[in-house]
Amino acid sequence: MFRVPDAVQPPKAGSLFFCQNLAVRPGERVLEIGAGLGLAAVLAAQAGARVVATDILPEAVAVIQTNASFNGVVVDARLGDCYAPVADERFDLVCTNAPQMPTPADRVRRDAAALADNGGADGWEMLDRVIEGARHHLLPGGRLVFTLFAFLGQKTAFAKLEAAGLAPSIVAREVESFPRIAYERLEHIRALDTEASVPAGQPETVERLVIQGALPA
Ligand SMILES: C[S@@+](CC[C@H](N)C(=O)[O-])C[C@H]1O[C@@H](n2cnc3c(N)ncnc32)[C@H](O)[C@@H]1O
Repeated sequence: MFRVPDAVQPPKAGSLFFCQNLAVRPGERVLEIGAGLGLAAVLAAQAGARVVATDILPEAVAVIQTNASFNGVVVDARLGDCYAPVADERFDLVCTNAPQMPTPADRVRRDAAALADNGGADGWEMLDRVIEGARHHLLPGGRLVFTLFAFLGQKTAFAKLEAAGLAPSIVAREVESFPRIAYERLEHIRALDTEASVPAGQPETVERLVIQGALPA
């Protein structure tokens, strides 16, 4: 059972896809950044991992702890921006289903719903910081795993991971319904879609990827 307070985004298709493709081994140290209501964090803890889950929203941090208790596990939930709550700590797995909806300047907001979706002008605002910080927070042989809308660019993602010293690979891909808020900013998204993943006309679907960047052992 999971509690979903009003201020915290309920799980969406991307959340479930993310959880289904997180391979966690018992005893591993796992960090989930932007954990929301804690679904992935709780599942990782149930799989035997020692989990730190962060979010920038105080209501999320509170409900992560509640949802962990409801489900009989312990998750260390911490409040803060990106890696700030984990200072110099290192993990076997760093994972995130980060906000990544490209956001034109006239749609920037700071409320909870916007925090869950908006990813800066090109969608990469938080993902860039997660990728850049990964080397400092992964144990040798550790991996970074994140979801990505294909319109942000698989080749772009691989180049960013390689530049950060991580070996990129695709863990999974699936087709999801085109997100409602993406219709509102379709021309902005098309302008960023250098790999032509968005079909012409009124798109009904979007491809979603789970991408891994592995640190050498
Ligand atoms: C797309 S939601 C994903 C929530 C959950 N992990 C899931 O898959 O359903 C993104 C989450 O990131 C959080 N968030 C946004 N900006 C953040 C930041 N700078 N640092 C940490 N968390 C952030 C939001 O509050 C939200 O809970």
